[in-house]
Formats: sequence, C-alpha cells, structure tokens
Amino acid sequence: MSNWNEEMKLHVDEIEEILAEFLPEQKGVYYERVIDAMRYSFYAGGKRLRPMMMLESFRMFGGKDESTVKPYMAALEMIHTYSLIHDDLPAMDNDDYRRGRLTNHKQFDEATAILAGDGLLNFAFETVSNAMMKSVEAGDCDLLKRQTKALQVLGRKAGVFGMIGGQVADIEAEKKEDATKEELLFIHENKTAALIQAALTIGAILAGADDISKTEKIGYNVGVAFQIQDDILDKIGDEALLGKPVGSDEKNEKTTYVTLEGLDKAQADQKQLSEEAIAMLNEITDEKVFLKDLIGSLVNRDK
Ligand code: IPE
Ligand code: IPE
Ligand code: MG
Ligand code: MG
Ligand code: MG
Repeated sequence: MSNWNEEMKLHVDEIEEILAEFLPEQKGVYYERVIDAMRYSFYAGGKRLRPMMMLESFRMFGGKDESTVKPYMAALEMIHTYSLIHDDLPAMDNDDYRRGRLTNHKQFDEATAILAGDGLLNFAFETVSNAMMKSVEAGDCDLLKRQTKALQVLGRKAGVFGMIGGQVADIEAEKKEDATKEELLFIHENKTAALIQAALTIGAILAGADDISKTEKIGYNVGVAFQIQDDILDKIGDEALLGKPVGSDEKNEKTTYVTLEGLDKAQADQKQLSEEAIAMLNEITDEKVFLKDLIGSLVNRDK
C-alpha cells in the first residue's frame, strides 16, 4: 500500500469506529427488517468522506472536545446513506449495485428500501437532538447555540433547499435535450455540494468559528468538483473499484458535466475547482492540515 493509502486507511478506520456506536442492531422486534436494511447500507463501507471532512474541519478550526462533533458526523452519514438508497430506487436511477453490494431494494425490497431511507433520515435528527439535550441538562448555553446552528445547516442542506432540491432538478432534467450548464451547476451544487458544505461548515460551527462564508465557498468548490469526477467515473471508471455501475447516467439519459463539456474539460475544471478550494483553505490556515491533503487527493480519485 502506498503511504497515502495507508494514511487514508487510518482515517477511515477512525471514522468507522465512531460510526459503529450510532446504529445498534435490534433483534426480535417487529421492525427488525428495516433496522437490518438501514445497517446493511450504512455499514457497507462507503468512503466516509463527509464525516471525515466534518471532523477535519472541526480540528482545523481548533475544536477541542470531539464528542461534540461525533453525533453530527453520524447524522450526516445517515442522511447521505439514505440519499443513496433512494437515489438507486427504480423510480430514480434504478441501479443494482452500491458500495460493492446489491442496492438496498435489490437485497430487501422496494418498500423496505424506502422505509430504511426514511428511518435513516429521521434517526439522524434524533441522534443530533439527543446530543443537544445533554447540553440543555448541563446548562451549557454556548454549546447549545452552536449545536442549534449546526442543526439548522443540516436541515437546510439536506432538504429542499439543498440535496433534495438538487435531486428533484436532476430527475426533471433527465431526457431533456436542452439542459443548460447553468441547470447542471444548480444540480451539482445542490444534490452533491450541499452535503459537503454541511460537512465543512458544521465542523467549523461546532468548533466555534463565527464566519463560515469562506468554508461554505470551499464546500461548493469541493462538492461540484466531486460530482464532476463522479460523472467522469460513471463514464470511464472501473465498476469493481467504484462498487457501483458505470454507465448509469447514459442509461438514464442524464445530462452530465461530461456530456456537456467533454472529458478533458471536465477533468480540467474539477482540478481547477479543487485547487481554488485548497487556496482558500490556505487563507484560513497556513498549517499543514490533513483536510488539504484529503481534498487534493480527490482530484485523482478512482472510487
Ligand atoms: C456518491 O457519494 C454520491 C454522490 C454524491 C456522487 P460517494 O462517492 O461519497 O459515495 P460513498 O459514500 O463512498 O458510497
Ligand atoms: C446522486 O448523484 C447524488 C445524491 C444525492 C445521492 P448520482 O446519482 O450521480 O450518484 P451515484 O453515481 O448514483 O452515486
Ligand atoms: Mg442520481
Ligand atoms: Mg445515481
Ligand atoms: Mg453518478
């Protein structure tokens, strides 16, 4: 393994250990099947980039008590996982593989997959509210204020003004001959960048940062670059590495960054967006923080 892969593995292991606490098994209950379905997708070994970015943002902004950020990391990964379960449904992208295994509705059934997604979404907010209650009980108003701000961001970026809004526009743009670059950027900003912005800004807010405007801009760049690379990999990626199908976008007649701009320009633009993001991070701190390396590494990701 290269040094970078070894370093990444340590970071992923750290996140897995944190996430392991949050979604317990429930055996012998009438709703056992939906818990099994939630755990099936949640513990399927995604790249864990959003919780990792949240934790690294928290660290970069000088956050100290990491128990504050953990419930939000888990909540964001639950929301991301639910978005993938629903994204794969026959009514949406109709895909059979995800995270290297059958998609949730293929492994279970459509009704269970819909409900597992709903279950993850609700459990995310329950998880965060449980953490907030502890601050109420401790009378820690300052922390509660930061947690509430972080909750606002989570709700907004995951909802109709964020990820859901982007997914709706993505589905509506399917088969449109004349989807424009402006429309595509709206889709990328919302379906994908919104949750990455949530990761970075929630980390900053919980660490006590007051001004999150630059962090939000970094999240935009990283998120749009991430979706451009996702579009590229849907065209030229390796299914075995990706753990999901190649050619899904073409099958669904999607307008993507690659169909609009071609592979070379897509590659160049995502590299430029990432470089700008790192330049903005350098304005926040000149220290060598892992978040910069992480974002830099995404430019050449193959999964
Ligand atoms: C996939 O996200 C969906 C997009 C927004 C492109 P990831 O590529 O982060 O998927 P996992 O979490 O590693 O499975
Ligand atoms: C979906 O984009 C982003 C989500 C909000 C789930 P894609 O549909 O391109 O994601 P993949 O390629 O299926 O992971
Ligand atoms: Mg989709
Ligand atoms: Mg999809
Ligand atoms: Mg895709």
